[in-house]
Amino acid sequence: MKAKVLDTNHFIALENEYGAHNYHPLPVVLSKGEGVFVWDVEGKKYYDFLSAYSAVNQGHCHPKIIAALNDQAARLTLTSRAFHNDVLGTYEQYITQLFGYDKVLPMNTGVEGGETANKLARKWGYLKKQIPENKARIIFANGNFWGRTLAAISSSDDPSSYKDFGPYMPGYDLIPYNDLAALENECKDPNVCAFMVEPIQGEAGVVVPDEGYLAGVRSLCDKYNVLFIADEVQTGIARTGKMLATDYEEARPDVLILGKALSGGVFPVSAVLADDEVMMCIKPGEHGSTFGGNPLACKIAQAALEIVVEEDLASKSYDLGMLFREKLERYAATSSVVRLVRGKGLLNALVINDTPESDTAWNICLALRDNGLLAKPTHGNIIRFAPPLVITEDELLEAVQLIINTLMLFEKN
Ligand SMILES: Cc1ncc(COP(=O)(O)O)c(C=O)c1O
Repeated sequence: MKAKVLDTNHFIALENEYGAHNYHPLPVVLSKGEGVFVWDVEGKKYYDFLSAYSAVNQGHCHPKIIAALNDQAARLTLTSRAFHNDVLGTYEQYITQLFGYDKVLPMNTGVEGGETANKLARKWGYLKKQIPENKARIIFANGNFWGRTLAAISSSDDPSSYKDFGPYMPGYDLIPYNDLAALENECKDPNVCAFMVEPIQGEAGVVVPDEGYLAGVRSLCDKYNVLFIADEVQTGIARTGKMLATDYEEARPDVLILGKALSGGVFPVSAVLADDEVMMCIKPGEHGSTFGGNPLACKIAQAALEIVVEEDLASKSYDLGMLFREKLERYAATSSVVRLVRGKGLLNALVINDTPESDTAWNICLALRDNGLLAKPTHGNIIRFAPPLVITEDELLEAVQLIINTLMLFEKN
């Protein structure tokens, strides 16, 4: 009998046969990661310019996070919240002091963070704003993405997220993104308890609002006693060149949702931060999660945050993001393929000069893969570029050259 070859085709065929087809991955099978690089099963090395949707800001397998993981995994991994553990409180103190909030509610995935924020907002709406029972409304922006639960898709305007999954959550409404007049109009309704928004819309294609939008959201929420919930699951933890994207406008959210890079991509860890006025509305038994706040997650998250501070990843992201956009904007100025370059820090995207239905962006990503760089289209013809923030300037310049060389293959003349 012929021995099975454990190559790319083998692993893709296994996934196709035994896994649900709820994703359309780029055909590459990875088996190792270190810093900004990943390797496939044939040993080919790539720049990772997706960072697992901005979860791996600290770089793959950062030694400090892996050490924390190994150390804690050998001692205690899970107690549930039925008992206390000797890691949770230390982590809670660290993260609340780092971000400047009274309290944190630890969860696991980003979407659970969003659900938690929505529940907190509704509770606060009934207890503090005196909204009549079951009348609380939460406002979202068109193009938002916060995950795949029934609540999250109920606020989505993307048919591929919500179609055939109804009925939907009541009390959710959408307004255009980057539109303060529309927000003010909604906030006038005394039953509105919160506006939940991404400071930059990641999945929508790295959509950056006008300067002043976030500060405007902050002041409208103050004016009408509405909670400002910032979904910084993708933009937070130094990705956009500041610790939080809302820091650009000193627009401190009432409720802050973090996830993804909170664990450096090692483990699902999310968190919701708020002050006592909001957080203390939830009493024992009213919300929770078996794994939320487990000692392993707390150790990992604390190490992941310490790295961001110690290695000053926010400044690195800010400076290298400028360089990235400068180089690619210069290329785009005379390109027939790239229509626009946009982003902040190291969360950037190229808008490809073709219809959203075309496969140009996908084909560019395949060619990038062949040339040693991994990226993925988001929403049709937009390619997101989000490398680990530990990338060096030389590596960034090499990667930019690789991107430009690849784009040149697609130029019309
Ligand atoms: C802004 C934002 N919020 C929430 C989520 C959901 O996070 P998770 O997939 O960990 O549930 C995502 C995921 O991409 C996101 O980009």
